[in-house]
Amino acid sequence: MRSVIFFLLYVVFVSGKVPDYIQPLICKASDPHYEKCVYNSFQKSRPYLMKGIPELSFPPMDPFKLPLMVVNRTLNEFVSISAICRNIVVEGGRNTVIDDLKADPINHAGEIRLTLPWSYLEMEYDVSGRLLSIPLQSRGFFKGNFTNTQMYIKGSLETYEKKGEQYFKVKKVNAKVVVGDGWIKLNAKNPDLQLGADIITNFFNENPRRVMDAIHPIFIETTNELFRVVADQILANLKVSEWAPA
Ligand SMILES: *[C@@H]1O[C@H](CO)[C@@H](O)[C@H](O)[C@H]1NC(C)=O
Ligand SMILES: *[C@@H]1O[C@H](CO)[C@@H](O)[C@H](O)[C@H]1NC(C)=O
Repeated sequence: MRSVIFFLLYVVFVSGKVPDYIQPLICKASDPHYEKCVYNSFQKSRPYLMKGIPELSFPPMDPFKLPLMVVNRTLNEFVSISAICRNIVVEGGRNTVIDDLKADPINHAGEIRLTLPWSYLEMEYDVSGRLLSIPLQSRGFFKGNFTNTQMYIKGSLETYEKKGEQYFKVKKVNAKVVVGDGWIKLNAKNPDLQLGADIITNFFNENPRRVMDAIHPIFIETTNELFRVVADQILANLKVSEWAPA
């Protein structure tokens, strides 16, 4: 089965230069305490990351907005999802806790372990497919609040040349994400079809673990793809020499 996942990101202003207020947060590869430097920079840059850094095309993380996401994926005869989601807004990133961070400036590789105590998600959705014992066929407005999300993201970068300059792009990204718990509420666009929306809502809320485990592979694929797209957008605009001074 072919899988289709794509996103539309907001296009943001890019200067191609690290802005002055971020400059002190860039760690030198020669720093003997490189990992500690990266960790401290993460903590200090938190307010900027939440608001976004338009000069680096870094999108705001809280609220994180995605105009469009399309997922069309069949896992097996019990789980298939074809969804178009619009105007996605996720709140809660500001509470992210960094549990662990490893960074290797030589191989441009790193890993990070994060906990997101809660994240609140709203979007317009149009979904069809199958979710275990229930058919998915609904259109409307989705909201949900998810708690205790554990993320482990491991990745590496590679360099490539563009107009005689070196740039980074994502080589590998491997994210493991487990959502602890959550609730959802679907409001059908056509009030006559609210019953179908309620069936999905109740099926999730009765046993969130069952649903989250069933769709986990689709969720992970989508998350990995999203991380890659966002990271590549950020990396594409800045030379290696700006990101990673020796
Ligand atoms: C989803 O994928 C299936 C099979 O690959 C295809 O038949 C269907 O048209 C796709 N739906 C959308 C909305 O792209
Ligand atoms: C989501 O749930 C958390 C934990 O229960 C709560 O603190 C937070 O206010 C909720 N967020 C929204 C927007 O409802």
